[in-house]
Amino acid sequence: MATEIFSPSKNDQAQVDFLPLQGTDYVEFYVGNAKQAAHYYKTAFGFQSLAYAGPETGVRDKASYVIRQNKLTFVLKQPIRGNNEMADHIARHGDGVKVLALKVEDATSAWEETTKRGGKSYLKPTTLKDDDGEVVMSGIHTYGDTVHLFIERKKYSGPFMPGYRKWESVYNPTSTGLLYVDHCVGNVGWNQMNPWVKFYEEVMGFKNILSFDDKDISTEYSALMSKVMSNGNGYVKFPINEPAEGKKKSQVEEYLEFYNGEGVQHVALATNNIIETVTELKNRGVEFVKIPESYYATVLDRVGHIDEDLKPLSELRILIDRDDEGYLLQIFSKPVEDRPTLFFEIIQRKGAKSFGKGNFKALFEAIEREQAERGNL
Ligand code: FE2
Repeated sequence: MATEIFSPSKNDQAQVDFLPLQGTDYVEFYVGNAKQAAHYYKTAFGFQSLAYAGPETGVRDKASYVIRQNKLTFVLKQPIRGNNEMADHIARHGDGVKVLALKVEDATSAWEETTKRGGKSYLKPTTLKDDDGEVVMSGIHTYGDTVHLFIERKKYSGPFMPGYRKWESVYNPTSTGLLYVDHCVGNVGWNQMNPWVKFYEEVMGFKNILSFDDKDISTEYSALMSKVMSNGNGYVKFPINEPAEGKKKSQVEEYLEFYNGEGVQHVALATNNIIETVTELKNRGVEFVKIPESYYATVLDRVGHIDEDLKPLSELRILIDRDDEGYLLQIFSKPVEDRPTLFFEIIQRKGAKSFGKGNFKALFEAIEREQAERGNL
């Protein structure tokens, strides 16, 4: 299951990166009830309260809760009145990711460089100020109704951003060991993978580092294709999935139907100890896709030696894969809404830079069993 990985940083040192990214700044979700969603992510995933904006802080039309765990920041936002863009977004898509915000040194340059290459502006460079300094933000549209914001916060010392106040809570559940965003996957429509690959190449200067076709990712019933896009330093990785022809409806088609269009399929969260993290998440009620126990009878023949005992991995149903550079451990949650749309991946990398191709078949068969239970296969 060796996988060639093209390293843009090694091969293109001569080229100047016109969009230098320092990583994911935050992930923003539009949700039907931000107060309760914040409580869910604190309780189940181990986030802490960080900042709040809403009517009490002078924001008349929406409430925003910011929560953090290590380098992971989630913003949960909801409108408090109807008849606006955010309310329409939630009616159309259900709860989902609206913004993948990227940390930059210069948000004005990021906007100029991407829009002059064909990126559609979502937000012109805008400076927000308060007593703690200033944040400059700008943004462009990507697939579906999803957007990328560029966040420049080098002159800011407040908890999150101007307009937010610190959110002190008496309820502070312990961390589950989640560290940062490893990658975010988008589902796009038929024949739309390559146009979006081109968008990330041309507008954002990303490189296609890995590709999977329907021969790699097909089960008896359904198929999909995927290309992984990475920025120059590899801090930001966006795989793009497209459905492929199969006997039955693929998981990507199910997503597109229920999300009413293209959007973020999953956000992969990194941990340094997946056994501890997943044990904790399960104890707090997070549900995961369950692959059959038979997977563990042969997995070590495929991946070779690993540092961990197999027993806890098999009890928790954590998946294992290897590439030329090492191995990885991963597991996928069930969708975290009633619509079968957004879910989370928990991943621990031990050298491997790939995405678990060796697990696709077992995983997708497990997902299909759940699709069938929902009547959507
Ligand atoms: Fe993933």
